[in-house]
Amino acid sequence: MRDILCMYYSRTGATRQAMTEIAQALDAELVELTDGVDRSGARGYLRSGMDAMRRATLPLAPYETERPLSDYRLVILGTPVWAGRCASPVRGFLKRRGLELERVAYVLTRGSEHKSEDIYRQMDQYTGKPHQAATSLRVGHVGHTFWQEEFLRQIRELLAEEGIDDTDAFVALTGIDEANILMAMCASRQKAGCKVVAKINRRSLMDLVSSEGIIDSVVSARDVTTELIVQYVRAMEGAAGSQIKTLHRLVEGAVEALEFHVDRDPDLVNVPLRELKLRSGVLIAGIVRRDGEIVIPGGNDTIRAGDDVIVVTQDTALQKLRDILRQG
Ligand SMILES: Cc1cc2nc3c(=O)[nH]c(=O)nc-3n(C[C@H](O)[C@H](O)[C@H](O)COP(=O)(O)O)c2cc1C
Repeated sequence: MRDILCMYYSRTGATRQAMTEIAQALDAELVELTDGVDRSGARGYLRSGMDAMRRATLPLAPYETERPLSDYRLVILGTPVWAGRCASPVRGFLKRRGLELERVAYVLTRGSEHKSEDIYRQMDQYTGKPHQAATSLRVGHVGHTFWQEEFLRQIRELLAEEGIDDTDAFVALTGIDEANILMAMCASRQKAGCKVVAKINRRSLMDLVSSEGIIDSVVSARDVTTELIVQYVRAMEGAAGSQIKTLHRLVEGAVEALEFHVDRDPDLVNVPLRELKLRSGVLIAGIVRRDGEIVIPGGNDTIRAGDDVIVVTQDTALQKLRDILRQG
């Protein structure tokens, strides 16, 4: 279902043409309004002029919209200018349904040089809120296409900004650090409470942005990639001969937490930990028994065959659990 609605009245086709093009460009729903009055010819012209000046309106012919009016992100109303006012069928619509419109934009089509922009405010009185965008077009004249395109640009910008209002999180992921920072800053200004993440490669920019607290989270593609490569390489080494089950790098890679599975190594198994000659910078942080019991070990505890042992170390070259022992 489309969430932009274009509604219009057209006596001689100019407003229909503009609104059809606008609806197509925005992939919007298009609905024509009419009050069923024959407004053709000179009589119709005069009647329309009189109706406009008197602000007289008649009930509209039935029309259907895909959603309730208040559910549209934007309703664009198109009207010809009649005697410096909006056309009577459009006034009739606004009188009856104007207050249901949440966000509205206007398209006027006119015959003279004068833009009649005061009509926007006349129409706002029926919606009870200011319009979001508006344009006055002289269909078929020089400049018509330019101003119509300019209106479409404004609408797209408006919708993009409004998109942010509904956003809980914004992630800037282009390949350009500066663009990611700017987009993330805009997003965090525009929507309080929106979680903002930016991908940044250059360390100097990362430090600057993090220290200023401008952006909630900064992700360095380089660091993430390095981390993944290290994990992969260590895991491959593990498969080739070490007993490493899992590996985590901490404190910017300076410390590793490794999980080893224990076989029947006589130098390690059933020896109280205080008697093990550990290398410096190595800590046995936890033992997971075969039955799942987790032991935060003291000096009297022992490692048993079948346990998993968690070692925290600054030595990033550990391959096997044996490597925690001092050589010689
Ligand atoms: C009764 C009547 C009054 C009009 N008054 C104005 C006017 O005040 N200013 C203006 O620029 N054009 C005026 N026009 C011209 C129309 O606004 C213009 O031709 C418009 O684009 C027609 O749109 P439509 O073909 O969708 O009916 C008037 C037209 C009619 C029928």
